[in-house]
Amino acid sequence: MISIRSVSKTFTSPSGEDLRVLQEVSLEIPAGASVAIQGPSGSGKSTLLGLMAGLDQPTAGEVVVNGQSITGLGELALSRFRAQNLGFVFQAYHLLPHFSALQNVMIAAEIAGLAGAGAKALEALARVGLQERAEHLPAQLSGGECQRVALARAIVARPPILLCDEPTGSLDPRNADRVFDLLLELQRDLGATLVLVTHDAHLAGRMGLHITLERGRIVAGAA
Ligand SMILES: Nc1ncnc2c1ncn2[C@@H]1O[C@H](COP(=O)(O)OP(=O)(O)OP(=O)(O)O)[C@@H](O)[C@H]1O
Ligand SMILES: [Mg+2]
Repeated sequence: MISIRSVSKTFTSPSGEDLRVLQEVSLEIPAGASVAIQGPSGSGKSTLLGLMAGLDQPTAGEVVVNGQSITGLGELALSRFRAQNLGFVFQAYHLLPHFSALQNVMIAAEIAGLAGAGAKALEALARVGLQERAEHLPAQLSGGECQRVALARAIVARPPILLCDEPTGSLDPRNADRVFDLLLELQRDLGATLVLVTHDAHLAGRMGLHITLERGRIVAGAA
């Protein structure tokens, strides 16, 4: 269960003005749910996902994940929380450029404390159809392949919560559907909670719950 309780996020723009990016957003995501977050560019989707992952802290309000408040936790406790609970697929992949596809996935497996990290990383790469690209550096992969490596990295530790920011944004429709099949299959296998941001209405339709953000507020779908 992910509880977003009256969460606001304000950034200071480079010119010094307050940017109210999320405004008193409240949302309850039951364990095992699949949720699509939609909304125009700049509406706060990535910011909200980042707050659920504890990658950023809210200006006001609280984020509670599986009964534990992650608001105000220190960096060390937060990294432990993320390693045990979360798989995160970033909008811009964030692969380590000097490490191969396999190493990028292995590092996540090692951080999660998995035994046999190499074998598990290879298995995760195989699940996204990239076993033959294991030794490639990110610069030697296409955009869609980088996205699939990022997905393999997110699923390698079989986390109970998967947060994905436009995980199919640079994939062709066939591969996008494939990645979606995989996400939904993993979600079922693990009984995981899957929250994803997507601009693709067809793919969003395959999720159980739908949230729409506009200008930092939920305009449809809040519990
Ligand atoms: N660190 C930051 N400092 C200042 N402003 C920020 C920061 N991060 C995000 N913003 C602003 O917050 C707003 C929401 O950003 P966010 O990335 O959450 O949008 P989004 O809904 O994910 O958009 P997209 O669909 O384009 O990815 C944007 O207007 C952005 O410029
Ligand atoms: Mg975004």
